[in-house]
Amino acid sequence: MTGQGLLAGKVAMITGASSGIGAAAARLFAAEGAAVVLMARRKDRLEALAGEISAAGGRALAVPGDVTSGGDVRRTVEAAVERFGGLDAAFNNAGYATVEQSLHQTDDEVFDRTIDVNVRGVWNCLRHQVPAMLDSGRGGSVVNTSSVAGRYATGASAPYVAAKHAVLGLTRAAAADYGQKGIRVNALVVGSTRTEMMEQVLEGSAALEEVFVASQIQKRMAAPREVAEAAVWLCSERSSFVTGVAMPVDGGCGAQA
Ligand SMILES: NC(=O)c1ccc[n+]([C@@H]2O[C@H](COP(=O)([O-])OP(=O)(O)OC[C@H]3O[C@@H](n4cnc5c(N)ncnc54)[C@H](OP(=O)(O)O)[C@@H]3O)[C@@H](O)[C@H]2O)c1
Repeated sequence: MTGQGLLAGKVAMITGASSGIGAAAARLFAAEGAAVVLMARRKDRLEALAGEISAAGGRALAVPGDVTSGGDVRRTVEAAVERFGGLDAAFNNAGYATVEQSLHQTDDEVFDRTIDVNVRGVWNCLRHQVPAMLDSGRGGSVVNTSSVAGRYATGASAPYVAAKHAVLGLTRAAAADYGQKGIRVNALVVGSTRTEMMEQVLEGSAALEEVFVASQIQKRMAAPREVAEAAVWLCSERSSFVTGVAMPVDGGCGAQA
């Protein structure tokens, strides 16, 4: 499993790996030859996934932690370096969203939590991943998960729209800072995808689901793996001249905005 593939020989850190897009990415990165270091808060899920990947012949390490904690993120990067000898790629994908509400009805707590997980989380990751990539002399590739809500006011909650716009800003700033140092930094502009987060946002509403589906040219939601495929490509050498981009994986949603 590790000798060949688009990511053969690479070490990749994936946040939000306990479910949805992150879990699909963990499986796919490993199948493409990467050693994967998995981070999220739910230890049992991470360990089960790491076990599944190892049983299939891959290399995986679960490091439970919270992306809002710089210390937890640093510990995860250190674990990657200690266990697998460095860090070549990162998929900073952990995120938090709430049900849609008007701005004036949204609590300060929701604003703080949404910014903390989505923005500070990516900030913490970049702050600790980049030094490891610079130290190795091998460079690296970082992919941050934004959203169509990072490009447009999609009707998602205002803090989430603001947070995912900020993820694109951090991505571009980091790409500019490290473009000449061998580190590429890109973002995925993700459209509606069938995950636990989506289930929570829909709250069982078939009408809301229809609205989400109708916004895509393809008239369906993505499967998590379809998003993970783009992250694999951006972390691979196949995308060697791609940096600072906000790459849509949105079923054509942005084409008709
Ligand atoms: N689904 C969509 O339609 C959609 C659309 C656009 C963008 N996105 C983005 O895609 C990313 C992945 O979401 P998903 O759809 O795959 O949802 P999901 O299945 O709910 O996954 C979210 C992941 O983030 C982790 N997470 C949340 N808070 C965390 C924290 N403080 N520290 C560490 N990990 C944390 C969760 O794990 P723990 O609970 O175990 O910590 C979980 O693994 C998010 O950034 C989301 O904003 C999703």
